[in-house]
Amino acid sequence: MSAPVVLVTGAAGGMGGAIARRFAAGGWRVAATDLDDAALSVLEAEVPLVARVPADLRFAEACHGVLGETMARAGRLDALVNAAGVWREGPVESFTEADFDLLIAVNLKSAFFMCAAAIPALRATRGAIVNISSDAGRHGNVGAAAYCASKGGLTNFTKALALDLAPDLVRANVVSPGDTATPMLDFQAERYGGGDPAAYKAALLARYPQGTRARFVRPEEVAELVFFLCQPTAAAITGADYSIDFGYTAGK
Ligand SMILES: NC(=O)c1ccc[n+]([C@@H]2O[C@H](COP(=O)([O-])OP(=O)(O)OC[C@H]3O[C@@H](n4cnc5c(N)ncnc54)[C@H](O)[C@@H]3O)[C@@H](O)[C@H]2O)c1
Repeated sequence: MSAPVVLVTGAAGGMGGAIARRFAAGGWRVAATDLDDAALSVLEAEVPLVARVPADLRFAEACHGVLGETMARAGRLDALVNAAGVWREGPVESFTEADFDLLIAVNLKSAFFMCAAAIPALRATRGAIVNISSDAGRHGNVGAAAYCASKGGLTNFTKALALDLAPDLVRANVVSPGDTATPMLDFQAERYGGGDPAAYKAALLARYPQGTRARFVRPEEVAELVFFLCQPTAAAITGADYSIDFGYTAGK
């Protein structure tokens, strides 16, 4: 049997890249897609890719195109990991329609149509889906209502999908990280930190129960959990939402 194949969206990003590296280290063949092809080529210098497919996943047609290209190159699909995402924050009354549409299109719609496109191939392998949601998919975050809407939608969509796919033994799970040290977190702090990104990050860390010992989640830690969820040993796990957040949501 040829090595299993994972398709990772947002593979040029912090978590997506770590996930691609983890699967490659575990002997899987990796197909990678992202909006940013230059960053994908940096990943490819490190991780051999069975398919490198730049695409803007806001559009269903693009999602189907990525699947088609992956199947043409790899011939099978055993896991789909949706890690593409964007962050915007701000009060509801002044939030722009463009930012709202972007959050929904990238964080929710792209995962929905990537799953839709991948279902036939995953049925053939009894494969697995992991959607990267967020603690913001489980409860409200102050100042991030639209992001919470996108991630709450993604989390609940994944649970419904798990039920739909259960008769075919295809699994679908959610991983919900807390604040994770990636370019997205740097972007948040730069854009919304009021000129003091370090203070923005310190305020995030102050919410964690570790107190002065709090740190951000590492993308490699998220990747380890995602990799586990795609193994045959995780056959009993579907429709689950795993937090990886130092206990941040435990008391919510
Ligand atoms: N970093 C955090 O603190 C954190 C916490 C919880 C959840 N998340 C979620 O984890 C996932 C990974 O985020 P990350 O922290 O690695 O961020 P990141 O910014 O490092 O990576 C996100 C990737 O998504 C890609 N992307 C954006 N728009 C796209 C589009 N239209 N089409 C295709 N690709 C597109 C970007 O090019 C980027 O490479 C996201 O869904 C994010 O919402 C992040």
